[in-house]
Formats: sequence, structure tokens, C-alpha cells
Amino acid sequence: MPLNNSRFIVFEGLDGAGTTTQAAKLQAHFTRRGTPSFLTNEPTSEPIGTFIRRLLTGGEAGPDGGPYRPGEHSMGLLFAADRLAHSRSIQSHLDSGEHVVCDRYLLSSMAYQTLDPDVSGEWVVDVNYGCAVPDVTVFIAVPVDVCLARVGSRGAATSIYETKSHLETIARNYEALLPLYASRFGRVLRIDGTASVDDTHARIVEGLAI
Ligand code: TYD
Repeated sequence: MPLNNSRFIVFEGLDGAGTTTQAAKLQAHFTRRGTPSFLTNEPTSEPIGTFIRRLLTGGEAGPDGGPYRPGEHSMGLLFAADRLAHSRSIQSHLDSGEHVVCDRYLLSSMAYQTLDPDVSGEWVVDVNYGCAVPDVTVFIAVPVDVCLARVGSRGAATSIYETKSHLETIARNYEALLPLYASRFGRVLRIDGTASVDDTHARIVEGLAI
């Protein structure tokens, strides 16, 4: 089915799956084609997202002087707050006729924050009530070992989640929660992301039918 009415497009996948690269390449594709578009990402570079990034890199000191690590419920609420503020900006770009390409969104919260088994996918959906709803989510599927090799070659870790045991659990969480996500947040296009950057981009453009 052609998906060319899709204007709000989200990229999802494990750390190292290539979401950032592929989101940028899709926006470049829109630019070449003369389609106005807005490239964005989560966590955002707004105040709430900036605070989250400090937590993700251990750069925020806790009461004992070590890295401040609130639990995944708190992280889920912070990501939701960042997303609800972000949604206003996303909606205004959509309203002005642009396509919006977003590197990570709500499905990341469902897959990552459920690292804590007391956090459920349904709870994540509930606390994100009112966020902008994507037209299509591109899930880039890449095995954990390949992701780890890619993040290892890029140097310093940018996230506390970039370990083998975390990524293995997050990979299972993505698979388990995709049906719930798709039932609430629209179509999911699954793309094998193990090929070259250009081949994966070509598969995405073909899959989106844009
Ligand atoms: P990431 O895409 O790695 O940012 P960058 O490429 O700029 O380093 O995203 C940061 C991390 O945040 C990543 O490990 C996934 C995690 N994350 C969540 O845990 N929940 C969320 O809702 C989002 C959006 C990201």
C-alpha cells in the first residue's frame, strides 16, 4: 500500500541501528525532491531533553556526588514531558505543510523504559497521552552484536543503555511491544538495517513509497 500521505515519519531501533543516519538521509531525500521537511530528534535539545542527555551520559551529579540515576519510571516521565513539549513544535511544522522526520519517539520509551519490569508498555502509552501521532514508524532491525560493534567504533558511549545485556532486553522489548504500539500509533515499516547505509536508505524510500 503506498504510504505517500505519510508526513510525520519516526525512526526507531536499538543504539547503533542507524536511526540518526537514516533520518538525516530521508530528510536529504525530501530536500532533493523539493519537499519541505523538518528533521528533529528525541531526546530534544530543548531544556527537558538537555537534562535527559545529562542523565544518559552520567553528567548530572546525585546527592552522593556520583551520577544521578533516577529509575525508569522517572525517565519515562521525563521523556514524556520532553515529547509533549516537542509535539507542539512537531504539530506546528505539520500544520505549515512540512514533512517531519523524527529520530526516536514514543516507541523508544516503550522499549527502553520497560527495562524496569515494573514499567509497562501501557503505562508508557498513558503518560504520553496527547502527543502527536506519527503516520508511519520505520523500525530499523539490526542484531544486538552488530549494534554493539557500531557503537563501539564510534567512541565514548552516549547512553547508559549501550551495554550488551541492556540492548538484548531492549531488543526483546521492541519486538514484544510493536503490536501494542502499532495498534495505537499507526503503521510500522520494518526494515533490515544490516546492509550498507545507502542500501538501507533505498529500502526505506521504497518501503515508504515516497
Ligand atoms: P540516541 O538516539 O542514542 O541519541 P544520540 O544518537 O544523539 O546519542 O538516544 C539517546 C538514548 O536515549 C538512547 O539510548 C535511547 C534512549 N531513549 C529512551 O530511553 N527513551 C526514549 O523515550 C528516547 C526518545 C530515547
